[in-house]
Amino acid sequence: MAARGGNKFSVLLPTYNERENLPLVVWLLVRTFRESGTDFEVIIIDDGSPDGTQQVAEQLEKIYGSDKILLRPRPKKLGLGTAYIHGMKHATGNFIVIMDADLSHHPKFIPEFIRKQKEGNFDIVSGTRYKGDGGVYGWDLKRKLISRGANFITQVLLRPGASDLTGSFRLYRKEVLEKLMEKCVSKGYVFQMEMIVRARQLGYTIGEVPISFVDRVYGESKLGGNEIVSFLKGLLTLFATT
Ligand code: GDD
Ligand code: MN
Repeated sequence: MAARGGNKFSVLLPTYNERENLPLVVWLLVRTFRESGTDFEVIIIDDGSPDGTQQVAEQLEKIYGSDKILLRPRPKKLGLGTAYIHGMKHATGNFIVIMDADLSHHPKFIPEFIRKQKEGNFDIVSGTRYKGDGGVYGWDLKRKLISRGANFITQVLLRPGASDLTGSFRLYRKEVLEKLMEKCVSKGYVFQMEMIVRARQLGYTIGEVPISFVDRVYGESKLGGNEIVSFLKGLLTLFATT
């Protein structure tokens, strides 16, 4: 639990070959939390990146302090869903923020997530690209269609009542995320979608904050054909079992 009854935010930052992006995203995170006087920690879950991301993370631990930046690596690439589960084992905050490390998710939105959470006492606050001022920048048509398509099919099949199902920039109460992780079976990218669908089933409340998603400048996306196939499989499994 957080010190003296205040809130503490644990940011889970999964990384695979994010050497160029990690220093900037961590700097922005530290600045954002310090400016608002909010207690925080950043947990970096690196899956044995061959590009030296872990050495960068070790440097950041030294710069900002190992109570603020925590490298909790795994030996090899084991997938996004299980990276979050691994990170949670080390989280000491009562709220958890999940986001990408490649600057597609800007830390400036976190204070808005926190405000939204307070406003409605929500269990989850989900960043949405598909509402209000939200949007996607830098994706080609193919990638936009995949994202829109995945959202649309899931909306139709499962009616989860949130506008961005495949996004991963979210704030959770810690005990809510733990519960959801117990229930979730998927291991890859489909995890985000399963989480929000299960959240609805379990009756958790979800607030939304429009976010802009800006495609990465450095490095490349790890979302490939395999992930799309496993997304569809996961979706059908959910449809059949819920
Ligand atoms: N530890 C670990 N292990 N990290 C990983 C792995 C893995 O196997 N795969 C990806 N990551 C990290 C990346 O380093 C990055 O910080 C984050 O997870 C997202 O990966 P990207 O490869 O940048 O994903 P994307 O930009 O294609 O996909 C984004 O949009 C999707 C659809 O909206 C992400 O936000 C996804 O979470 C989202 O589902
Ligand atoms: Mn990305």
